[in-house]
Amino acid sequence: MTTALVTGGTSGIGAAFARALAERGHDLVLVARDPDRLAQMATELTDSYDIEVEVVSADLSDRDDTLRVASRLESTEQPIDILVNNAGFGVHTKLTADDTAPHEYAIDVMIRAVLILAAAAGRTMRSRGRGAIVNVSSTAGFITMGSYSAVKAWVTSYTEGLANELCNTGVQVTALCPGWVRTEFHQRAEIGTSKIPDWMWLDADRLVADCLDDVERHRVISIPSKRYQALMLAARHLPRRAVRFASRKLSSSRH
Ligand SMILES: NC(=O)c1ccc[n+]([C@@H]2O[C@H](COP(=O)([O-])OP(=O)(O)OC[C@H]3O[C@@H](n4cnc5c(N)ncnc54)[C@H](OP(=O)(O)O)[C@@H]3O)[C@@H](O)[C@H]2O)c1
Repeated sequence: MTTALVTGGTSGIGAAFARALAERGHDLVLVARDPDRLAQMATELTDSYDIEVEVVSADLSDRDDTLRVASRLESTEQPIDILVNNAGFGVHTKLTADDTAPHEYAIDVMIRAVLILAAAAGRTMRSRGRGAIVNVSSTAGFITMGSYSAVKAWVTSYTEGLANELCNTGVQVTALCPGWVRTEFHQRAEIGTSKIPDWMWLDADRLVADCLDDVERHRVISIPSKRYQALMLAARHLPRRAVRFASRKLSSSRH
């Protein structure tokens, strides 16, 4: 039996990872802040699948909480075979706002915690000669929509660096770059979605299945769906001026 640790495994994309991994027979460690939702998710999973579920209530904006999760990843008695660094949220605050705390909070959860947890998992998995790390990034990282794009550009670039560092060690490292997915993400960040056309929405279960296929194929960047692959090809090859213009239009349509 193998075990996967999923951060933010109680909602949206993280919950879809938890269900997909449970269906494939992996035991789970779920990490999130809300202990009631963790317990509820654990019950749902153990009722539906023949697996064990452990829950860890931790706030990944807190360095000590993050180190507690890192030490779970380093356990040799109860090894973790797959890490899904998924916990995150949208940031809808202007870069010039008086209070930069929302940006700093995003950096703590979506950069510092990703770095600490992937480092712990990478060290431990390398010593065992096997394992997989999935860092949930975003297609937003290829464009320029404020600090959220900057944070996710870091996640994608960091993942490529980690994949290089762990090349030929038996540890697969993949950045999942989703487009829009209906989860609690937009409501939590107060992002308007009424102007987003239907064709731009991805299904969380399909997205996760495609990502897990990409992990098996040893892909470092996973961009599920042909439509987002085409859009991101354009974003990577258009002049940056055009990318900034499109990003500006997209930002104003979200209010
Ligand atoms: N939805 C999209 O359109 C979309 C697109 C591209 C990328 N993404 C990325 O996908 C990932 C998951 O987002 P989602 O859409 O599934 O959002 P979601 O439905 O809001 O789920 C977020 C999950 O993260 C946990 N979480 C949030 N802050 C946390 C913290 N400080 N410490 C520990 N856990 C925390 C939440 O649980 P608690 O609140 O209990 O802590 C929840 O389980 C994020 O990294 C996001 O940037 C989403």
